[in-house]
Amino acid sequence: MTSDGMEKDRVIDRAERVLYKTYNRFPVVFDRGEGVCLYDLEGNEYLDFGAGIAVMALGYNDPEYNLEMGEQLGKLLHISNLFYNEPAADAGERLLRASQMERVFFTNSGTEAVEGALKIAKRYAYNRDGRGGHEIIAMEHSFHGRSLGALSVTGNDHYREPFGPLLPGVRFARFNDLDSVRALVNDNTCGIIMETIQGEGGIYPASEEFLRGVRALCDEHDLVLILDEIQCGMGRSGSMFAWQEYGVKPDVMTVAKALGNGVPVGAFLACGKAADAMKPGDHGTTYGGNPFVCRAADTVLRLFEERHILEHVRIMGTYLWERLEEFAGNHECVVGHRGKGLIQGLEFDRPVGDIVSKALLDQRLVLISAGANVIRFVPPLVVTQDHVDLMLEKLEASL
Ligand SMILES: Cc1ncc(COP(=O)(O)O)c(C=O)c1O
Repeated sequence: MTSDGMEKDRVIDRAERVLYKTYNRFPVVFDRGEGVCLYDLEGNEYLDFGAGIAVMALGYNDPEYNLEMGEQLGKLLHISNLFYNEPAADAGERLLRASQMERVFFTNSGTEAVEGALKIAKRYAYNRDGRGGHEIIAMEHSFHGRSLGALSVTGNDHYREPFGPLLPGVRFARFNDLDSVRALVNDNTCGIIMETIQGEGGIYPASEEFLRGVRALCDEHDLVLILDEIQCGMGRSGSMFAWQEYGVKPDVMTVAKALGNGVPVGAFLACGKAADAMKPGDHGTTYGGNPFVCRAADTVLRLFEERHILEHVRIMGTYLWERLEEFAGNHECVVGHRGKGLIQGLEFDRPVGDIVSKALLDQRLVLISAGANVIRFVPPLVVTQDHVDLMLEKLEASL
């Protein structure tokens, strides 16, 4: 074994001794990244089609992004929300412009963005009815995060069961089945939460009819529609936010992941009736929206515009779609292909754990699964055709 190989084992051993064991990690220690590639401690190059779970939209080690972050680091990291900071105003203005929303609250993660969004729905109904006790409708096979509130609206029994009782009054409808949503609406319902494209559940885009129908239900019953854009937002679908592909606007939306390109920052945004539902004192955070993370969000949003990232995603999304269709046609074990832009999934007739593991360890290709049988393709948004071609060669060799 090389000395770097021994170094890798030492790092894994040390990490295993200290980190809480909630993950089964692959035996790879990444050391640095460049563009669409990652490098392990031995200097081996890996093609990355996971982007740190749909985070690294601009790729790794972007010089312009690094310059901005370095400058902010030397200037001001944190001040608390008791004071104003300019990067928060900058990032907020850009985010509202991109999302057509009216108000933004910056959070530290996607999960916390979901928590805030749920509170808006409850607060809106409380303001209207003068009482609490309101309920939420969520979707089966959804994923919204691991805190107790976000877990309460996550439609996966495996994640939920050990931690009950969770938030009361959450009912689960079937995704893309409007009747199943309608059947759950009652006088206590205050909101409906769903991903525009289900990510962890296996890359299922909402059908246009479903999304329009849910919007109409929310209007009819004065409910708050929350669209979770944490995974499918920030350009991944080919539009800045996936709901813009449908022209169905939510009252509240959540965003995170690619918003900071690796710096932990999320946000919930609201418009119309939801924009002023929460009052001063209703919600807060120590770190959320500090100058450092907001400089990251502002820079990411600026670079998206300057580099025409959305146009690139549409072109590359079409190319990836065509290549994956071809791949699916050549392999009987592939039983489904879904997605939009650069969030696509291939469903296999068997669990994909072995393929993902082989791709990583033998082919040096980073892929991630979504559920047991689906490989999801969520590369940095700056991928090129050559990267897609190379990815398919490596995937082929992994089967
Ligand atoms: C759709 C969706 N919502 C919420 C979350 C939770 O975000 P975070 O892990 O940043 O807390 C995720 C994370 O994968 C997600 O995909």
